[in-house]
Amino acid sequence: MQQLYVNQQFPQDWIRMFTHLANLFFEQSKLVTEQADDTAIDLRFTEVYEESPSITADIQWQGTHYTSHFAEEVKETDEREQLRQRKRMYSHVLLDVLEQATGMNQEWGILTGIRPTKLYHMYRQDGHTIDEAKQLLQQRHRVSVRKSELIAEIADVQLNALPDLYSLKEEVSIYIGIPFCPTKCAYCTFPAYAIHRKSGRVETFLDGLHEEMRAIGKWLKERDIRITTIYFGGGTPTSIEADEMDALYQTMMESFPYMEHVREVTVEAGRPDTITVPKLEVLKKWGIDRISVNPQSYTDETLKAIGRHHTVQETIDKYWLSREQGMRNINMDLIIGLPNEGLEEFEHSLAETEKMQPESLTIHTLSFKRASEMTRNKDKYQVADRETVGKMMTRGEEWSRDNGYIPYYLYRQKNILGNLENVGYSKPGEESLYNILIMEEAQTIIGLGCGASSKFMEPATGKLTQFHNPKEPGAYILGFEEAIDKKIAYLEELFPSSETIK
Ligand SMILES: C[S@@+](CC[C@H](N)C(=O)[O-])C[C@H]1O[C@@H](n2cnc3c(N)ncnc32)[C@H](O)[C@@H]1O
Ligand code: SF4
Repeated sequence: MQQLYVNQQFPQDWIRMFTHLANLFFEQSKLVTEQADDTAIDLRFTEVYEESPSITADIQWQGTHYTSHFAEEVKETDEREQLRQRKRMYSHVLLDVLEQATGMNQEWGILTGIRPTKLYHMYRQDGHTIDEAKQLLQQRHRVSVRKSELIAEIADVQLNALPDLYSLKEEVSIYIGIPFCPTKCAYCTFPAYAIHRKSGRVETFLDGLHEEMRAIGKWLKERDIRITTIYFGGGTPTSIEADEMDALYQTMMESFPYMEHVREVTVEAGRPDTITVPKLEVLKKWGIDRISVNPQSYTDETLKAIGRHHTVQETIDKYWLSREQGMRNINMDLIIGLPNEGLEEFEHSLAETEKMQPESLTIHTLSFKRASEMTRNKDKYQVADRETVGKMMTRGEEWSRDNGYIPYYLYRQKNILGNLENVGYSKPGEESLYNILIMEEAQTIIGLGCGASSKFMEPATGKLTQFHNPKEPGAYILGFEEAIDKKIAYLEELFPSSETIK
């Protein structure tokens, strides 16, 4: 535990921010305002406010003094915005002195949010040029040149894939969560429950889901609202039987408005052990040809260690089976930093992927999610160090470019190895539009099914309100009717009918 002794009082959210930044350098850190132990970092901030604020951070650590100074013009007139700016400036100097003291470099600077690309889009929409937006990321947020270039490239790809990205607020997208999986993976905290057919839970859940789809579809039809994309996720939406999938897609076709205008329907099959010919036939029957077949790793020992009861060979076989059965757009997910994996195992995963050339590939970095089996038993799982995961990420970037992929979405998570990121790559023109829309928070997303979260966006202001469906199937069965009513109430506010307006 690394203590940082600071002889000033700060609001709780500032302390959280400072601690988060210090945690990027030390395994665990704590900000204290009382007498600390000898190994503590002595931290002092000085703020001078003349025409604009200027902040200095000084630290004394292991007999050496480090200092950083940052000044910025105040453009904000709003008091809350001014406070936010000062907090950002304090973070800026703190990160700088810690970088000096430890010799470490944080490529994401002081950005803690999960959507750096959204910030870039905001700068662009505010009228900044591409160069100005990149510079703002670098100067205000200390993002590295390399990462700001990556963000700009991604934003450009997104606008090519969705030229109307900034004006899709009058439409919605739909997420449908199926909370079952063959087994639970050790790193996962998604709503994913091992599927036991005998309890009748699956059938009752599906009854509720059909009802939700019909109710929301009816409302959208009445209001004449179009759907941009539909995404079946989870969990594993192919863990249910073929006839159950068939019934769901039938309800989708019958209940949702303007299905012919929906730009994309994706079913995140995911687990190779759930993919069968009858299920692929059902997908084809309804014109769905975008799925995921997720390897995560191409090392059998790793799949065992993470509790994914399928083999590497099964991933490969199901990939080719899906292709033969007409799946035109296949995504594959890999995770960097899985237990006992280093550069060699990752190179092997890339070499195997190279033989298949899926339309898109998402490279995740392992994140220790609080409630996962892996985090609860951290000692059991040996993971690569920061330097190695950094090298793996760079190799992923190089490999993707060499194989004709372009990065098209990016997001970050808490407790992610090496403070890295997750990047989605695709062959040009094969991007998942849903992934872009959700990541950039470009429109309302209505979540149906277990654990599905909805994000309601006010078309005029872009203001977001979140709503979560119950995560556990039992709770969903009891609560889905109330969830329908609540969602419709939110939607009524966002899209009032012409009669309400009169
Ligand atoms: C919602 S999961 C569902 C995918 C599907 N059920 C499967 O496992 O193939 C989407 C992806 O998130 C990634 N993922 C989930 N938990 C993760 C974690 N803790 N760290 C890194 N990536 C994670 C995995 O690559 C996974 O394929
Ligand atoms: S199969 Fe996918 S959703 Fe299910 S537990 Fe594993 S990672 Fe999570």
